[in-house]
Amino acid sequence: MRRATGAGRSLEDALREAVRSGRLAAGTRLPGSRALASDLGLARGTIVRAYTQLAAEGWLTGSPGSGTHVAHVNVPGPSDDDRRRECAPEKRRWRADLRPGRPDLASFPRTAWTAGVRRVLDRVEAERLDYGDFEGSATLRTSVATYAARARGARVTPDAVVVTAGFSHGLALPARALRGMGVRHAATEDPGLARHRELLTAAGLTCVPLRVDEFGADPAGLTAETGVALLTPAHQHPSGVVLSPARRGEFVAWARRTEGFLVEDDYDGEFRYDGRPVGALQALDPERVVFAGSVSKTLAPGLRLGWLVVPPALRVPVSAAMRESGGGVSVIEQSTLADLVARGDYDRHVRRVRSAYRRRRGELADRVAAVTGLALVGVAAGLHALLPVPSAEHERRLVAAGEYVGLRLQGLHTSGYRHPADASAPAALVLGYATPPPHAWSQALDLLGDVPAAEGLRAGPTGTRR
Ligand SMILES: Cc1ncc(COP(=O)(O)O)c(C=O)c1O
Repeated sequence: MRRATGAGRSLEDALREAVRSGRLAAGTRLPGSRALASDLGLARGTIVRAYTQLAAEGWLTGSPGSGTHVAHVNVPGPSDDDRRRECAPEKRRWRADLRPGRPDLASFPRTAWTAGVRRVLDRVEAERLDYGDFEGSATLRTSVATYAARARGARVTPDAVVVTAGFSHGLALPARALRGMGVRHAATEDPGLARHRELLTAAGLTCVPLRVDEFGADPAGLTAETGVALLTPAHQHPSGVVLSPARRGEFVAWARRTEGFLVEDDYDGEFRYDGRPVGALQALDPERVVFAGSVSKTLAPGLRLGWLVVPPALRVPVSAAMRESGGGVSVIEQSTLADLVARGDYDRHVRRVRSAYRRRRGELADRVAAVTGLALVGVAAGLHALLPVPSAEHERRLVAAGEYVGLRLQGLHTSGYRHPADASAPAALVLGYATPPPHAWSQALDLLGDVPAAEGLRAGPTGTRR
């Protein structure tokens, strides 16, 4: 557990910065120590010590009975540059990031990648640097076909593979293709990523929610108008459940019966910690399932590299959508990835980060249990886990408390996973455990230990729940 001084220091830093930047104007009355302690889930003594320290430094004034106010501090007003920095969300000084959806970027295999780029540039003929095929380079398509079959059990030949700029780009392609073929409705998981619904909507499709329970997405939500369903079968994002064998069968039967399609988002299929990952749904019917992979979780999202395995009936329209999008991925990046896969460097890297993420997941579960008495939800897989909380309001307060201590958090409601938005739907923090670089991991856990503020989330004689 983090020492009490850690939380106090974070609070002091945050308040000092707020006064210095003018966000807290001179004369503003601060909440009473009891109220703030309850809001942040900190001991009242921690708040009192922080107020006392800041008063001693001249940032705050206070007298018994009249409350604590922001002092008239003579600091230069924020410059335009400061204001710009303040407004840019990415520039806020976060001390740790436990959002889901990102790997540990510090573990990117720079040495192997650099050596791969050098090998590629040493041997690539000048003509191959010309505009390439829209579907991707033959080398990478072959390499993806072999890899997807070996690692994920997909049924795939190189001509079915289309190289994309990551999953998001990949999703937009069948979406546009299907819309062009007359499809109007796409079923999407609830909870599910808002970004993916946006992409489907931008392609002209209407998103219809599929409820997710302990067996994964429920096909009962499919309607006569649904032409495609987007699923995360190996590890539902974000709930963390695996699509059950019965449901897999039902989705495939629906697609066959209605001549619909399934898009399988295999975004973290490589990361299963308690046994072998379930194989690709696509293997059940390569004619009706678009399989989609990406290196965003295994290597880095900034590479913008992914792939689709496209059923025969969609190949021409998907290639057309690719052409229309003006798309294509750098030949050098494609060849480098193929080179790393061929040499075994890619698999070695995945094995290495998998064991680091497995360990982190265990440490996160232990810390959460120690602090809240609660257990994480979801199978031991991927780069995130769910921490259910009693309500959307608890969730909002926890995310806000995280912000106070500099810890970046996301929740089902606060991050738009729910559709339609429904404040009474179950709430949870979606804790990503991959992102902090190794040197910052224990600090991230410590900060998380400071956060479970909202009542009912503290371990203790009365509040303990398992
Ligand atoms: C559910 C899900 N699918 C896919 C991806 C990968 O998207 P991309 O390859 O566009 O980075 C992510 C990334 O966060 C994700 O959360």
